[in-house]
Amino acid sequence: MENVFVSGHPLIKHKLSLLRQTSTEPKKFRELVRELAGLLAYEATLDLRTRPVEVKTPLAVMTGSELEEKIGLIPILRAGLGLVEGVWELMPSAEVWHIGLYRDERTLKPVQYYNKLPVGPTVQVCLILDPMLATGGSAAATVDLLKNWGAMRIKFVGLIGAPEGIAHLHSRHPDIPIYLGEIDERLNEKGYIVPGLGDAGDRMFGTA
Ligand code: PRP
Ligand code: URA
Repeated sequence: MENVFVSGHPLIKHKLSLLRQTSTEPKKFRELVRELAGLLAYEATLDLRTRPVEVKTPLAVMTGSELEEKIGLIPILRAGLGLVEGVWELMPSAEVWHIGLYRDERTLKPVQYYNKLPVGPTVQVCLILDPMLATGGSAAATVDLLKNWGAMRIKFVGLIGAPEGIAHLHSRHPDIPIYLGEIDERLNEKGYIVPGLGDAGDRMFGTA
């Protein structure tokens, strides 16, 4: 599908397999999520714009590059929080704007409980961070919020996506690139990704 990028990187596949294991404890789970976030963000930022900058090395003056665009990280609470540190290590000056959404267990629709975005956009590129793209409702709602905010370039970065969620997000927002570690088989009757990894927030924060 156009605008869907699935990493085939061996490090990502290896770390995702460890992450999925039921025996992986919250401490290790958080560590893996942080590492995976950095690897995926590296792939998702391949097209960031740069501008020329003069660099004085000990030997000569040269024209180097610096990032031109201000980047915003948009973790969807709770589980998206786990991805922030890994991405921040690569781009420490990124702004972080939290969006609080949870899925209603019955309807599977996202319910918003936190949004402190300022009046106008303060960044040029928004990376939405959430490990799981299940029905796609939370991701699509977050894109709605960011577009209403006036964000120009928005990307979704996640670890595991279900075909249903990818199709939903893509149909609602075909202009938004989706970067994923892996695509799984399907959703179950409770809206969980199969095989997936279970509830990402619970496994991350030890609340299972
Ligand atoms: C999980 C996950 C996503 C959402 C994905 O969050 O982190 O935000 O579900 O599901 P969707 O694609 O069907 O919307 P959850 O609602 O469980 O909240 P939590 O992160 O606070 O545990
Ligand atoms: N949220 C999760 O944390 N896991 C799923 O499989 C689906 C939604």
